[in-house]
Amino acid sequence: MTIFHYGSLNERDPIVTILRIKDKMMEDALADKTTGRKLAWITGASSGIGRAVAVKLADRGWQVAVSARSVEKLAALAAERPDLIHAYPLDITDGQALRDAVHGIEQSLGPIDLALFSAGGYVRESARRFDAGKLAELFNLNVVGTAHALEAVMAPMISRQGGQIAVVASVAGYIGLPGGGIYGATKSALITLCEALRPQLEREGVTLQVINPGFVDTPMTRTNDFPMPFLIEEDEAAEAIIRGLDSKRFEIVFPWKMKLAMKLLAAMPYSISLAVTRRMLRKE
Ligand SMILES: NC(=O)c1ccc[n+]([C@@H]2O[C@H](COP(=O)([O-])OP(=O)(O)OC[C@H]3O[C@@H](n4cnc5c(N)ncnc54)[C@H](OP(=O)(O)O)[C@@H]3O)[C@@H](O)[C@H]2O)c1
Repeated sequence: MTIFHYGSLNERDPIVTILRIKDKMMEDALADKTTGRKLAWITGASSGIGRAVAVKLADRGWQVAVSARSVEKLAALAAERPDLIHAYPLDITDGQALRDAVHGIEQSLGPIDLALFSAGGYVRESARRFDAGKLAELFNLNVVGTAHALEAVMAPMISRQGGQIAVVASVAGYIGLPGGGIYGATKSALITLCEALRPQLEREGVTLQVINPGFVDTPMTRTNDFPMPFLIEEDEAAEAIIRGLDSKRFEIVFPWKMKLAMKLLAAMPYSISLAVTRRMLRKE
């Protein structure tokens, strides 16, 4: 297959953009033929959202490398599709483990086309029993852990000038809600980080997306003892994520009712939004 060379064409000429898109499509088709399937790497794939997306991608014929700490859960998932799903257990708070995993995955399965970072945790805080240690622990998991994963995968993708990365944050990162301050702060940090990295990575040919789910019925939310409006199933969340990944748009946010409610709340003046969030206070 021959790929067109641009020679002395003006880079600003729209025809050059069209030719570059056409070349990229030809390269993708060539990659699919020579290396076979596309490869995804998913952290937080032992349960919940990460697991559901891993299964859906395998159903679409992708090779999927799955990571989390629970060796048995990952092994059980890989056993469901031994030809397509491969377990790489690790703890995302260990930066070296993430670098080793990316190296190991790429050595044995080929270049990672899509990295989806879903690993994370949740705590609730209370003003009366505020614990900075809990905050440090959750930042270390949700923010620093995800940053280790970003660091591990960005360098090889930048050197290839291609790839797609998606970070799972949350609509909880839009505005602080009583009890969700620590968790929401970790997710705001991830959203801000992704906003800043998106244009830089775009310049390197890498697509970065942020995924902001509303409430999803997973092990993380099953112990919640407060109302969870517009709660959706894991499968619906995975469908929305796959559609969003295909679109390559920056923010993947669902379900739409939660998106609307949280975006409106975050856009309101504090005099109104704090009057609303005050009503969410619970007896202690
Ligand atoms: N469920 C919701 O309503 C909701 C809404 C918005 C955003 N989110 C976000 O979605 C993501 C996935 O959550 P989920 O709802 O699917 O919950 P989940 O079922 O509890 O999944 C969390 C995943 O993260 C992994 N994990 C936790 N600590 C880890 C560590 N140190 N190293 C590696 N993996 C680790 C867990 O596996 P191991 O325990 O085996 O390590 C598990 O696979 C999280 O980032 C969460 O904040 C969830």
